[in-house]
Amino acid sequence: MIAIGSDHGGFELKEEIKKYLTEKGYEVKDFGVATPDSVDYPDIAHPVCSSIVNGECDRGILICGTGIGISIAANKVKGIRAALCGDCYSAKMTKEHNNANVIALGGRVTGPGLAIEIVEAWLGAEFQGGRHQGRIDKIHALEGK
Ligand code: RB5
Repeated sequence: MIAIGSDHGGFELKEEIKKYLTEKGYEVKDFGVATPDSVDYPDIAHPVCSSIVNGECDRGILICGTGIGISIAANKVKGIRAALCGDCYSAKMTKEHNNANVIALGGRVTGPGLAIEIVEAWLGAEFQGGRHQGRIDKIHALEGK
């Protein structure tokens, strides 16, 4: 199950990505927003990230205007590795090396065509483990410091 959520700045792109993934056969759980009315992006990052940490969802897609605020918020949640991506190479690498369980996008930065390719690159990549696992362990050792 893929969790998805956005603030108002990412609302339109969220709807596009949700439609695309659903048509492709992915299971998607939408954590809002349901309208383009203004909301605070941490209020969306929290339930999306919680659903991943508690095992309800496997991974998540978060979108705000730039993708910056919502990725900063997501990375405050213990166990979350959120990567803001604006290109397909980074999206692939953040799965292979960082095992990113959340990808963040900027709805006012990245158009829907590229955004969908970025999501596909991330979904299609596999974590390489090995030396990268040790680095991830060191990231999580920073939590709470
Ligand atoms: C909302 O106006 C905007 O600040 C938000 O979507 C995001 O870009 C923050 O990083």
